[in-house]
Amino acid sequence: MGSLMLGTEVMSLMSTCAAVFAPYMAFIPDFAAFCAALQTPQPYCLRVNTLRTRPETVRELLMRQGYSVTASPIADELLLVHNLTHPGRLREALLGYYHPQALTSAMVSRIVAPQPDELVCDLCAAPGSKTSHMAQLMHNQGVIVANDPAHARLAMLEYNLKHLGISNVVTSRYRGQNFPLRCKFARVLVDAPCSGEGNYHWDKQGRMQHVRRGIGTPTDLPRVQKQLLLRGFDLLAPGGSLIYATCTYNPAENEAVVQELLEQRPATLQPITLPTLHSPGLLQWKEDIYDARMQHCWRLYPHQTGSVGFFVASIRA
Ligand SMILES: C[S@@+](CC[C@H](N)C(=O)[O-])C[C@H]1O[C@@H](n2cnc3c(N)ncnc32)[C@H](O)[C@@H]1O
Repeated sequence: MGSLMLGTEVMSLMSTCAAVFAPYMAFIPDFAAFCAALQTPQPYCLRVNTLRTRPETVRELLMRQGYSVTASPIADELLLVHNLTHPGRLREALLGYYHPQALTSAMVSRIVAPQPDELVCDLCAAPGSKTSHMAQLMHNQGVIVANDPAHARLAMLEYNLKHLGISNVVTSRYRGQNFPLRCKFARVLVDAPCSGEGNYHWDKQGRMQHVRRGIGTPTDLPRVQKQLLLRGFDLLAPGGSLIYATCTYNPAENEAVVQELLEQRPATLQPITLPTLHSPGLLQWKEDIYDARMQHCWRLYPHQTGSVGFFVASIRA
């Protein structure tokens, strides 16, 4: 009886997932595994703040409290904790020893790979998870301009930076598409406002959960995303690199946005290297055909990464 009930629940969740993501069934690999992953609790990823402490120290401190901690193969500073419910409440969080951050979100700053002496622009930066990660990768050296037009979200970013002991970031509050072209950057990150489908998941009761889009998130997303990516490209110094990221599966917010850049500017796509399963960018969606270089983009699905869905493109002039 129990397993029959369980079977029925699984079937019903599968059909809800299939209904929500029906348009993407054609391109999400192993769709049944994708739906199963959206109802399976994922471990928390803690990004150790290497400006304050070492990954081994945090690992040791958490294990002494009975938490099951494993290292992520992506990077030393990323720890996966399996039996944690409120990562923000531990003493180590209050001390700024780590920042809870989705594993795939942390991959983005690793793909940006900023160097200590560089000038970096984070065009859509709040609440600062990637800004603060990049700051620690730069050993608090060089300069990051963290821009976001949302006042309240920028306040959260400033709080996070202070809490984590970061001192190489200045903030600005432009609409990214109007960011002044006076200064050119070695690296630009456009972590664009998006529909956030990558955060969708189902709880044990079968209720769909997703992070609500912030107030002020534009409704005409693809248009704004294209403007932001074009401005991001125009902000590059010669030889600079630009990363475009979203936490959504929608090709209209991903490949179509990158396609616009390839058509409007002398941009090219470059391969991404990190040790994780991923799927390549799409070459076609409905009636749209995309540039063959789109295969260098990464689609990160929850059943491949054990984290939230993301899209990443690595671009060079
Ligand atoms: C996906 S969130 C960024 C998350 C952030 N990078 C992090 O890792 O914490 C997208 C951000 O874009 C901002 N945004 C919305 N419209 C924008 C615009 N026109 N220019 C720049 N940023 C914008 C939103 O306020 C939001 O904070």
